[in-house]
Amino acid sequence: MPANVVVIGSLNMDLVTRAPRLPRGGETLIGHSFATVSGGKGANQAVAAARLGARVAMIGCVGNDDYGVQLREALLTEHIDCRAVSVVEGCSGVALIVVDDNSQNAIVIVAGANGAMTPAVIDRFDAVLQTADVVICQLEIPDATVGHALKRARELGKTVILNPAPASRPLPADWFAAIDYLIPNESEAAALSGLAVDSLQTAETAATHLIAMGAGKVIVTLGAQGSLFANGEGFEHFPAATVKAVDTTAAGDTFVGGFAAALASGKSEAEAIRYGQIAAALSVTRAGAQPSIPTMSEVQAFRPA
Ligand code: RIB
Repeated sequence: MPANVVVIGSLNMDLVTRAPRLPRGGETLIGHSFATVSGGKGANQAVAAARLGARVAMIGCVGNDDYGVQLREALLTEHIDCRAVSVVEGCSGVALIVVDDNSQNAIVIVAGANGAMTPAVIDRFDAVLQTADVVICQLEIPDATVGHALKRARELGKTVILNPAPASRPLPADWFAAIDYLIPNESEAAALSGLAVDSLQTAETAATHLIAMGAGKVIVTLGAQGSLFANGEGFEHFPAATVKAVDTTAAGDTFVGGFAAALASGKSEAEAIRYGQIAAALSVTRAGAQPSIPTMSEVQAFRPA
């Protein structure tokens, strides 16, 4: 029986332009292409966990527009339980994404229906939360709801993962005790700890700081450098596989979803990190958010170059 992962978070329609480079302020650039692609950090992590072996339910909100229909449909296609994905009056969340020729991106999100994720929504779907082995949250829904969800999941004895993305500020101090695994990237680790993070050593210092604040364990994702695991007793560096990057959008989401699915299925932390990393490496070789996320069999078949 696959383990249960419940994802609480955002669904966005990604409006993706490919361009030679990212535009400067006030500049108009001629792009190469345009596509609408299902995304949102919450939905991407739900799809990743589902493709990578977990039984998944999502708690989120979409608008009563065409994007809302497509975003829900994309999850249902992956056999994700969407009974707790509510349709609310107004527009769905959107993300305006530019990807340049070096596969770097810049993203602006507009919350839309994700802003309707109040703490009361978490209470309404408490029965869904109770089915979870692992619960994942991110920061594209209101902070009050994230805090409420983390604490309720902790109360229920679930394994709690927070991917603090996007983060530009420290987290509320009373969240930390509810978090088993805090998974920031370098810039998020810097924003959360108030320390510069630009190397393995500075990632260790920031992770130590975040554990001192109360987080159980910390995994700092370092892009092409892999990731750094810290548990308060020591550190382990997991180098990443070398791949040719096409688009890094949703690589972090793929890691989080893959890690959660593997952990929920009983794999060790080290195995779950390696599994998430391979999935993330495969995702950057393809364009788009959800379309880039690999399946379990693709990860199992992966052989480093
Ligand atoms: O992490 C990638 C996601 O961030 C995109 O799919 C976009 O929707 C933004 O939320």
